[in-house]
Formats: sequence, C-alpha cells, structure tokens
Amino acid sequence: MQLIDGKAIAAQIKAELAEEVRQIVATGGKRPHLAAILVGHDGGSETYVASKVRTCEEVGFQSTLIRYEADVSEAELLAEVERLNHDDDIDGFIVQLPLPKHISEQKVIETIDYRKDVDGFHPVNVGRMAIGLPCFVSATPAGILELLKRYHIETSGKHCVVLGRSNIVGKPVANLLMQKAYPGDCTLTVCHSRTKDIKKYTRDADIIIAALGSPEFLKGDMVKEGAVVIDVGTTRVASAETKSGFKLKGDVAFDEVAPRCSFITPVPGGVGPMTIISLMRNTLLAGKKTIY
Ligand code: GUN
Repeated sequence: MQLIDGKAIAAQIKAELAEEVRQIVATGGKRPHLAAILVGHDGGSETYVASKVRTCEEVGFQSTLIRYEADVSEAELLAEVERLNHDDDIDGFIVQLPLPKHISEQKVIETIDYRKDVDGFHPVNVGRMAIGLPCFVSATPAGILELLKRYHIETSGKHCVVLGRSNIVGKPVANLLMQKAYPGDCTLTVCHSRTKDIKKYTRDADIIIAALGSPEFLKGDMVKEGAVVIDVGTTRVASAETKSGFKLKGDVAFDEVAPRCSFITPVPGGVGPMTIISLMRNTLLAGKKTIY
C-alpha cells in the first residue's frame, strides 16, 4: 500500500507556481491577482479564505479580500461581482460559499464573468468541462486528477466508482474521469444516497472516489484488493484531543481499508491540500489568459 501524500505534492506544486510567477514578474509580466469575497463569519469559510490568501502570498500572487456582513443584500453583492468583472487588475475571483439564505448562490455564480471564474463553478466552465474543452476546472476534482497524475496511477479502462453526486465534486470528477484523456478513459459508476447495495459496485471498483460527506462510510469489506481509494470527505467531528476541539474525518474507514489498497489518500493530508493549489493554478492560467 502506498500513501498518496497530498501535502507533499501540494508543496511541490506551490514551489513550481512560485517559480513561474517569479519568472513572469522578472520578465516584466503582471503578477497574478486573486480576489475573494467573504460574506459573514462562518468558521469554516473564514479558515478556507484565510488559507487561500496565505497561499497567494506564498506563491507570489497579489490578493484582495472583500468582506461583507451576513446581512448584505443580494443586489449589493451582485454589484460587487460586476465591479470585479470589470476590474482589469483582477485576473480571477471567488465568492466563498455558502452564502446566507437570502442570497441566491446560483445567481451570484452566474453573474461572475466565466473568464474570471477560477472556482470553475459558472455553467460555461462546467459545460465546457463536460465536453472536454479548455476551461477552469473546479478545485477539488482538479486536485484529485493531479494526484492520480503525479503518482502515475493507471486509469485507462479502469472501473471507477464515485460515491456522491454533488455539483462540486461527484459530478465533475465522474465527468473528468470518463474523458478521453489521462487521467481518464475510465468506466464510470456514480453511487449516491438512493443507490441500492453500494457494496456491489465498490467491490468491483479499481478506483473509488469517496465524496459523500459521511464519516468512515467506506469499510474494508467494500473494497477490492489492490484498489486505489481517494477520500474526499472532510467532516468535522468533536474531539477532545485537538486544540480546535474538532478533528477532520474522511469518508473512508482508513485502518480497515488501507491494507487492501494499492494507493490511498489520508485525511487530513490527502485531497485537502490540493484544492487550494488548484485554485492557485487556475488563477495563474487566468493571469496568463491561457484559457480565454
Ligand atoms: N466553499 C467550500 N468550498 C468552496 C470552493 O471551492 N469555492 C468557494 N467559492 N466556496 C467554497
């Protein structure tokens, strides 16, 4: 069994991005600039956005954090999105989700200029991804593919079972892995909360992507010998052992599953560290106008 070290790969890619930025700036090019809009004070969102801003600094990007209180009106937020759409200094921007209930997330996403949508959430990017055109691919699916690539994991002709059908992970990762590409060329099965007898599918899988948000859902007897298991779960569970008072739990019962695998990602330290890196890569592509 080989552990997929997302933290190490993310650090390696961060160094590669920093070097590319250094060269761009050294040759008179523009330093990439990412903006993030954060609404309210949700603990998880605060942590994620702080981490995005910190990573921008580490790779040499400029970053701008725009904050609103949770009672901001939808109209005011949409006006800010429009302002960023037209700000030539901003290469890409994100609106951290979730948003307060009185604001339509879909409306906000669709107002973002798809050419600056480094989250890859705009329907133009999602649609282009689905038909294999250049686009901004959302962070978690892009991070998963990058891990498969960096560990030279064979995907062609493999049976990949995706657990979960979210717009952010399940649907896009299934879509990407069925493309005529590497990583890709997989035969796909997508299982979800209404699937009958999930074990029947997972036991046949060469690659399992667990993205249900259900702690330790995937047990040892659900996995074939030699399978590749990618754990996308990050559920916070209360813990007396940590300073923060919680611990991250994946969707995989790691101790049971790991001995059966050829490759497996841990939680934390697997897919998680890759997601911010994918956002940084998209921002660099936006700055270079590589895609649009
Ligand atoms: N909330 C949780 N993950 C994400 C993400 O990747 N992008 C944005 N904008 N919000 C999120």
